[in-house]
Amino acid sequence: MSLDARATKPHERLSEALSAEMEAVNALIRARMASEHAPRIPEVTAHLVEAGGKRIRPLLTLAAARICGYEGPYDVHLAATVEFIHTATLLHDDVVDESDQRRGRPTANLLWDNPSSVLVGDYLFARAFQLMVETGSLRVLGILSNAAATIAEGEVLQLTAARNLATTEETYFKVIRGKTAALFSAATEVGGVIAGREENVVQALFDYGDALGIAFQIVDDLLDYGGTDATGKDVGDDFRERKLTLPVIRAVAAADESERAFWDRTIARGRQEEGDLEEALRLLARHGTMESTRATALDWAARARAALKPVPAHPMREMLADLADFVVERIS
Ligand code: IPE
Ligand code: IPE
Ligand code: MG
Ligand code: MG
Repeated sequence: MSLDARATKPHERLSEALSAEMEAVNALIRARMASEHAPRIPEVTAHLVEAGGKRIRPLLTLAAARICGYEGPYDVHLAATVEFIHTATLLHDDVVDESDQRRGRPTANLLWDNPSSVLVGDYLFARAFQLMVETGSLRVLGILSNAAATIAEGEVLQLTAARNLATTEETYFKVIRGKTAALFSAATEVGGVIAGREENVVQALFDYGDALGIAFQIVDDLLDYGGTDATGKDVGDDFRERKLTLPVIRAVAAADESERAFWDRTIARGRQEEGDLEEALRLLARHGTMESTRATALDWAARARAALKPVPAHPMREMLADLADFVVERIS
């Protein structure tokens, strides 16, 4: 990486290199979030969409298509589709997690109410499907509809794994591969598919997105216990929600009797008191699980980088490789 390249974040460089396409994606999002009959829909959607967001998933689709030599026009539809799916899952996720901050703003469920978030999320899902139908590719439809089902599956699996101290790392990986990595891998895969690339390249793009998504969610889970990055979300949500994320799963596995009693009271039984989050942080530190979780995230970032090998050489392929390192760097 050159000095100049280090000056800006990889997703910002991607955004710059793909600025014309991203403008078209944003225009398409604005056009398709409209509703003839229900003004609540564009109100809620605009609140979230105009708060920004990193737009990582649409950038992945556009970059994958570009690297594969695709010249349009359906990369823009697909990029808008994945951002719509992402936006819909965020609306639903903030209801489920009872979150009150997203992208540095109060959540839609807080400003309006849960029914609005759920129903507008449903509307955006449906709009995403309409957009992808316009590409005319049944294969793309298959990939993105599978991803939508897998995301929901991951969120439901997480629901039943929460509060259960017996949750294993294997279950944790199933959850994050579903709720997060499925959309990353679909985003990159459809870029290769729309370009008509050979199977080994499409597979490589899928593998990159999968590993990147896993690294990304592990880091998101670390940041929930306090990071250096301004995420625009509240810290401590996962503890309050009694979710078994990787740092906690590892601390529970290493717990002595009194620590076990602490996790049992706070996570399994949910009797949380003032100062418990701080105590949880002390236990994570005592067993070095923030560090070991970070090492696991680095490992997945390395896998993402390595997966790109069969992908054609292109300056944007290097940006994707740098993005893998960046998602982990944001906590170091
Ligand atoms: C948030 O994703 C949801 C997770 C998978 C952790 P992003 O961090 O990409 O959210 P925005 O779009 O930039 O707000
Ligand atoms: C992210 O779930 C995945 C989806 C939104 C489907 P989280 O609940 O871990 O993400 P944040 O921290 O709220 O963004
Ligand atoms: Mg959440
Ligand atoms: Mg959630």
